Amino acid sequence: MNYPVTRLRRLRQKPRLREILTETRLSVYDLILPLFIKADIPEKQPILAMPGHFQWSLSELAKEAEDIQRLGIPGVMLFGIPAHKDANGSEAYQSNSIIAQAIAEIKKTTDLLIITDLCCCEYTDHGHCGVLVQQDAQWTVDNDKTLPLLVKQAIAHAQAGSDVIAPSGMIDGMVGALREGLDKAGYTHIPILSYAAKYASSFYGPFREAAQSAPQIGDRRGYQMNPANAAEALREVALDVQEGADMLMVKPAGAYLDIIHRVKQRHPDYPLAAYQVSGEFAMIKAAASNGWIDERAAILESLTAIKRAGADFILTYFAKEVVAWLS
Ligand code: PBG
Repeated sequence: MNYPVTRLRRLRQKPRLREILTETRLSVYDLILPLFIKADIPEKQPILAMPGHFQWSLSELAKEAEDIQRLGIPGVMLFGIPAHKDANGSEAYQSNSIIAQAIAEIKKTTDLLIITDLCCCEYTDHGHCGVLVQQDAQWTVDNDKTLPLLVKQAIAHAQAGSDVIAPSGMIDGMVGALREGLDKAGYTHIPILSYAAKYASSFYGPFREAAQSAPQIGDRRGYQMNPANAAEALREVALDVQEGADMLMVKPAGAYLDIIHRVKQRHPDYPLAAYQVSGEFAMIKAAASNGWIDERAAILESLTAIKRAGADFILTYFAKEVVAWLS
């Protein structure tokens, strides 16, 4: 039936009717809060481009975790900033690494789900996501030399009590190597959440201040994906599925809703996460603080869109605000 018999506005007139007809609903169980923890600082340091977010000191972390749990947020994604960086990021896999200590602090006061980001870039002095070598007179991350370092780091995370390992380096074969390494070390029960389709995005700007991980030379386009490509994302995801990923992720989220949608359609039986990254957070914050957009409406709209596109859960720096509004 067409107009005038069919009038879609009939169903939009009454607030109660709109409520019961809402197709996508955010829940507190959709949200994971990323946290930055820095070694050797006496107290938290504000991150200028991410208002309301901090590099946390270890000594304040247990209390902060308790607050996060009390709000109802189910879990956190941890990023560590070590006291010392070197060419191979060796602090990343020490048994007393910043991540290991952070997990211990969080477990003192909570049973939050702890997901640990697994990458070399916060730990290397050059800021790249693996071992840097020269090839054809250019610096590049050596794929196969990086894999064993990632495996060492994953085992260290599992040993320290991480609940989920989330490799974010876009290194070929990374999921397969991690699964094998974790299994051999006795961690067959630890799931892998793969940053399967991660783009070389300008929206990571504020994160690089937060994690002090900006590449000192070059950029990450030699391993992260070209924002122009979608078919390639499906290949990336398919490989991670074959290699044994338990959950998949698309990152960033807002500018990649089509990728989220396609990945969900292609792999409907795999849990899919999306990461609303630091630049997405900063844009909404900056526009709202100028009075140019309604902050609350923009946050809820952006997250609802990510879920509508197909994400089962979302990593977002807005998790605290949103759980307060949802409850
Ligand atoms: C790298 C990593 C990055 C982010 C998460 N893991 C940065 C990068 O690839 O440069 C970005 C997250 C954000 O911007 O919020 N291990």
